[in-house]
Amino acid sequence: MQAIHLTVNGAEISVNAGGDTPLLDVLRNHLGLVGTKFGCGQEQCGSCMVLVDGAPAKSCGKALSTVAGKAVLTIEGLGTPEHPHPLQQAFLDEQAGQCGYCLAGILISAKALIDRNPSPSRTEIAAALDDNICRCGSHPRILRAIERAALQMREGASR
Ligand code: FES
Ligand code: FES
Repeated sequence: MQAIHLTVNGAEISVNAGGDTPLLDVLRNHLGLVGTKFGCGQEQCGSCMVLVDGAPAKSCGKALSTVAGKAVLTIEGLGTPEHPHPLQQAFLDEQAGQCGYCLAGILISAKALIDRNPSPSRTEIAAALDDNICRCGSHPRILRAIERAALQMREGASR
């Protein structure tokens, strides 16, 4: 088995696993990055969302071989408890979430949105979360949190 090289949260790594191993499995079980969640395992719920070269991707359906040489961002690379990403802070401020299971995937989808569109409308935010299911029905607070983060990031950039 040949090692597969990729970048995860800014660190270059090599993984000894079959090329058809799901990226989600690699993240959680090989690298210990358990913030990315296993929900359905069938590309239906978005709880396993990560960024691959900046684009959202469901890691349960992404074979390791397809991310060779690419840059993967997981929730662990977004922020830390000491230095949360503005999205994470806004989710805390809005208390957006109940059980929290969906939130890593939603935060990743939201980051992809804000990176490409710093001033999204509510409709655009909802569309960007089309692939993310929240079983707790926290969507209203989640939408507010993303609006809040986008505003704070715009204000921060203009200072
Ligand atoms: S676990 Fe990947 S989409 Fe549900
Ligand atoms: S907060 Fe529970 S699934 Fe979204």
